[in-house]
Amino acid sequence: MARVFSGIQPSGELHTGNYLGAVKNWVDLQEKHECFFCIVDYHAITQDYDVEQLSSRTFDMAVSLLASGLDPEKCVLFVQSHVLEHTELAWVFMSVTPLGELERMTQFKDKSQRQESVLAGLLNYPVLQAADVLLYKAGVVPVGEDQVQHVELMREIARKWNSRYGRGFFPEPDALVGPARRILGLDGQAKMSKSLGNTIGILDEEDGIWQLLRPAVTDPARVRKTDPGDPEVCNLYSLHRQFSPPATVEEVARKCRSAGWGCLECKRVLADNIAAEFAPIRARAAELKSQPERVRDILEAGAERARVVARATMREVRERMGFLQTAAETTSTT
Ligand code: TYM
Repeated sequence: MARVFSGIQPSGELHTGNYLGAVKNWVDLQEKHECFFCIVDYHAITQDYDVEQLSSRTFDMAVSLLASGLDPEKCVLFVQSHVLEHTELAWVFMSVTPLGELERMTQFKDKSQRQESVLAGLLNYPVLQAADVLLYKAGVVPVGEDQVQHVELMREIARKWNSRYGRGFFPEPDALVGPARRILGLDGQAKMSKSLGNTIGILDEEDGIWQLLRPAVTDPARVRKTDPGDPEVCNLYSLHRQFSPPATVEEVARKCRSAGWGCLECKRVLADNIAAEFAPIRARAAELKSQPERVRDILEAGAERARVVARATMREVRERMGFLQTAAETTSTT
């Protein structure tokens, strides 16, 4: 398979949505493929953000990713702003990206509606995303469903650049979407997302998970404990599918339909299974947090490896686009 690239915003710790929708797949992919994973801090500034917290949230995301199983021996993990070529290629791509394509992006439409003054960065966000992936000439982008449209735009940007400057230079990447393509939040309505406050964090303690699950929305038909329910419409059943062994999933479905279990009993089992999956991750995160230098070294080594590829791509991009070479470049090519 082609090279793999994916990115994640520096939102602090991972939650069940981005963990299941993306990161769990990354951990599997690194076993067999050449993978680049990036904490995309330049993307995070396109909306209001807390300057004081950007670096700690970036660091904490690195801790969460490593604790979840990304292994710096098997993949390249780095921070976007540590590799300057991302923004350089984004600028280049802006000159081949039609404005209309950016304006019709669902995420742009959603986010811009909620703002009084819309920043150009928000509009151009998918151009930077295309640069992230294509800088490494990656062909596979493991993401959740909400990013598929951005990957499609990336394909178009690659096509447009290639047709003007170099046929076949950039691959047209494919999105790789796993079975947990859209995890809903505890409200059972919206996508699980930190900005909506409907998440279960992967570093939450067992009791904290239980407190979050207890009021979580289930099948509305189950008003009383004796009312039978339909697991297929219950968000918690979909979480059981992710966290519980097959025999339990089957039992949950049966006992929901027959009202053999009340929703609280079902939630208790789910809380225990989620806590069991997250317990080793929490332990590794605590260990990593006690060694901040080690985490920083991993990110620096990752950026170093990423820079080698990024510089080579940009050098060729500049050459194909007709830019005057620097004196240093001229001597190293002659
Ligand atoms: P971000 O940080 O919002 O999310 C990171 C990844 O997690 C997935 N995800 C989910 N999947 C299922 N259910 C959910 N509730 C859920 N929440 C998040 C996302 O689909 C994503 O795969 N624009 C990107 C970051 C990015 C990127 C890139 C991704 C920047 N450059 C290049 C791929 C390639 C974003 O904001 O993801």
